[in-house]
Amino acid sequence: MIKISPSVLACDFSKLGEEVKKVEAAGADMLHLDVMDGNFVPNISFGPDVIKSVREQSKLFFDVHLMIDNPGRYIDKFVEAGADGITIHYESCENQRDVLKMIREAEKKAAISIKPMTPAFVLDPLLAYVDMILVMTVEPGFGGQKFMEETMDTVRELRSMIKASGYHIDIQVDGGINAETAAIAAEAGANIFVAGSAVFKAANTKKAIDDIRESASSAIQE
Ligand code: DX5
Ligand code: ZN
Repeated sequence: MIKISPSVLACDFSKLGEEVKKVEAAGADMLHLDVMDGNFVPNISFGPDVIKSVREQSKLFFDVHLMIDNPGRYIDKFVEAGADGITIHYESCENQRDVLKMIREAEKKAAISIKPMTPAFVLDPLLAYVDMILVMTVEPGFGGQKFMEETMDTVRELRSMIKASGYHIDIQVDGGINAETAAIAAEAGANIFVAGSAVFKAANTKKAIDDIRESASSAIQE
């Protein structure tokens, strides 16, 4: 099933609550919350306290993308803040399996992400522990970058690994997603689309979300 997850990184932070209500009313399926620590990525965003206060403003599925070193230290904080799903980076720790189990034990959806240069096969031993895989389609750290089409080979490879495994695992793409690139990613096998700039900077939010959804739907592989 196709889902659209607008990334608040591109919103006007001076009115965060209103921005979130705006995308919820416009038909978003999830809300993508990018947490950056200034170490794993060269940027700093926000942490659990901000997520907790937005939680009171929205019923959307909170899709928390942790771009932080050693994410295991903070899983309980993000669960407590109201995350529905938590994505950790493969490159951010050594104990990925333990952290993914921790997320599932808290009855949240567990996901793992890989940066554009990380090969798909590293995730093979982790398929049993994830509900979603996030393939970064830009180097993580900043919104507004250009979609890297070469990451589509990774998406294709993961789609066939998942099929062979028999698990039901969503593939999310994040970075430079708009109606045009969503179609490319959907064709490769992605079904959850994170979009920051394409949604929050659009003049018509509902149209931006509808366009991404329609374009992905017409390109998707079953
Ligand atoms: C980048 C973040 C993305 C970012 C996407 O590190 O993970 O979620 O907000 O922004 P756009 O859609 O503008 O590329
Ligand atoms: Zn993200």
